[in-house]
Amino acid sequence: MSLSNTVTLTQQDNIGFIEVYNAPVNALSQSVRAGILAGIEWANSRADIDAIVIGCKGSTFIAGADIKEFGQPPIAPSLPTVLSAIRNSKKPVTAALHGTVLGGGFELALSCHYRIAMIGTNVGLPEVKLGLIPGAGGTQLLPRYIGLENALSMITSGNMASTDTMPDLVDMQIDEGTSGLKNAEKPEHAPIVNRAAISFAAGTASDPFLPPQHRRVPPSIKDVSFDEWRSKLAKKAKGQFAPQRAIDAIEAATLRPFDEAIKLERRFFLACRDSEQSASMRYAFFAEKQSAAAYKPSTISSNISSISVIGAGTMGIGIAIAFIDAGFNVTLVDTTEEQCSLGLKKIREHYEKMHEKGRISIAEKQQALSLMSSTYDYGKLADIDLVVEAAFEKMSVKKMIFSSLDAVCKPSTIFATNTSYLDINDIASSTTRPELVIGMHFFSPANIMKLVEVVKAKSTSEDAVNAVMNIAKQLRKVPVCVGVGFGFVGNRMYAAYGREANMLLLEGASPEQIDSAMEAWGMAMGPLTVNDMSGIDIAYKARREYPPIYNDPAYFRAADVMVEHGRLGRKTGAGFYRYENGKRLADPTTLTLVAAEAQKLGIEARQISDEDIQKRLVLALVNEGANLLEKGIARNVEDIDAIWLNGYGFPRFRGGPMYYAKSVGTKLIIENISYFHLSENKPWWEPSAYLNKM
Ligand code: 3HC
Repeated sequence: MSLSNTVTLTQQDNIGFIEVYNAPVNALSQSVRAGILAGIEWANSRADIDAIVIGCKGSTFIAGADIKEFGQPPIAPSLPTVLSAIRNSKKPVTAALHGTVLGGGFELALSCHYRIAMIGTNVGLPEVKLGLIPGAGGTQLLPRYIGLENALSMITSGNMASTDTMPDLVDMQIDEGTSGLKNAEKPEHAPIVNRAAISFAAGTASDPFLPPQHRRVPPSIKDVSFDEWRSKLAKKAKGQFAPQRAIDAIEAATLRPFDEAIKLERRFFLACRDSEQSASMRYAFFAEKQSAAAYKPSTISSNISSISVIGAGTMGIGIAIAFIDAGFNVTLVDTTEEQCSLGLKKIREHYEKMHEKGRISIAEKQQALSLMSSTYDYGKLADIDLVVEAAFEKMSVKKMIFSSLDAVCKPSTIFATNTSYLDINDIASSTTRPELVIGMHFFSPANIMKLVEVVKAKSTSEDAVNAVMNIAKQLRKVPVCVGVGFGFVGNRMYAAYGREANMLLLEGASPEQIDSAMEAWGMAMGPLTVNDMSGIDIAYKARREYPPIYNDPAYFRAADVMVEHGRLGRKTGAGFYRYENGKRLADPTTLTLVAAEAQKLGIEARQISDEDIQKRLVLALVNEGANLLEKGIARNVEDIDAIWLNGYGFPRFRGGPMYYAKSVGTKLIIENISYFHLSENKPWWEPSAYLNKM
């Protein structure tokens, strides 16, 4: 029988089987909540039903509350009402788990009396990633199953864990012997686990049982130091209040009776849900998805199986690993046999380390290593489907590589360059297939960082763009399509941000003050620490290869002075900071060098507040972002925000630079930018015309 648009109930002997189907991830929309509640009530009213099973159709069990509903007026029944009905059901309820059981879906599973899981099922409470805490019992029930320390770790990180390693949580695990098969060859998990759960429920229907909150002893406060967790999270998730509220709610599990503590959890959840931080993080979740969603699945991308990465440097190795991780065959190419062997050795070491740390099995390690090979002979690349070039950042080098590849590769091979700054139109002109030349700009470390800027040049075909966007999705990246221009979108905006950090140095701020002000605002790392890490000489060279349009004598002079004195950053032991045994230290020499340069330029030192630093750097980002939208180099504000969240450590709780500007109000933003324009008299501070359209 149909219980709602998304939930059905079938009776199998004495078992009531409630089945949810709300594609794509079975989120707990209103019709799902209503359907499950109706099923529990119906089964409890029937003398011929002894036990209940809740399972799902499709690729996963319930992956959480329906995030789209959070901004709207709530419609009954609420999730706590549904889960309370499950916990208090007079007939035992079994959850049949597969896929990714997240948020409210996991809370539902924890509220059941029994759980059956398909091998490889992942569970998690990712609410903090949305500026929330679990709002339907997660903070109360999870510690009862896996202990306080483990629950604190899972809830405050939002990370998933496999039920394979959680015997206390799962009453029975189902393995149909499919683990050796590739994903495409595996049978659908849902019917297997649902069938198993129905026979398990039949077997235990007459056993005595207790509501889940009473089956286990509440954890004791003596088990853990909540204050240590609070200070750890204050550093790790700085500026965010959801992780702190999550700790408070978990602590309540040790101090108060279940019914009281669960009400407190709900109060914290609702306060988080209605906060600007959560609105920003929910926006970020959808902003990241819309970038890739605009690009159609492509027939070309489904035919891409062999990849060649040109250049066995740090970037090339990271890119090769990203492709191997996604199951592609990768041929690493460098100029000599020795360079190639060195590259392969680094890849092998990476997988050996992953295995030693227990992150991959021996079979997975062997599988990864079987996908890599190398050559220094371009002649061997004739049948490669996609080339990703990550060689030296010099136009003449890139052109030479691509014209040589053009001569040997089959006509359908796509040529992608990982250039950070160079003109891809110019690179494409060195080939006879400009329609297949594209940018694939990874961020270091390329196997870890989520962002890939997919750069569409003047002649790049839609097919090639769709193919590369889809390949990047297969790498589980956040791909964002951008246009050609100095630094594309991310680095172009970063140049505006860095330019202001440099100006502030010349005006008397210290590197430590600038970095700590920006870190206090929420950036993962201050701009000068980042610059020291990546190498100050990289952008220095790029500015010479691609001269800036502005003729300002102070433009990046603080950074230039560092390079001119051999201070290239961490790699030379000194940059804006000094490094001893890997430790970052303040360096008075930087202040002396920068002050001397400021004097030459006639810039007077002044007192600068942290707030001034934050305002100036963030507004520089926003104005440059708006300029890129005006020029069509960036497609929309969501794309820019996805870039900054995934490539530059922009605080997720602020949504992204453009979302932040909109939430502050563009009128105020324009007034502030105009103030800088008047006081600084620099052309780049002219408010972008696009700000009025945001
Ligand atoms: N609500 C609404 N839509 C959701 C959703 C959710 N919880 N989770 C995913 N979606 C949508 C996505 O927006 C996407 O839509 P689109 O096709 O229109 O772009 C579609 O489902 C597929 O999602 P993905 O592209 O992300 O698919 P993947 O297979 O890569 O990943 C996933 C699946 C792991 C489930 C991932 O989508 C995810 O992490 N979702 C968020 C899960 C989550 O945060 N749950 C907790 C919600 S808060 C909560 O439950 C509060 C509770 O405590 C009261």
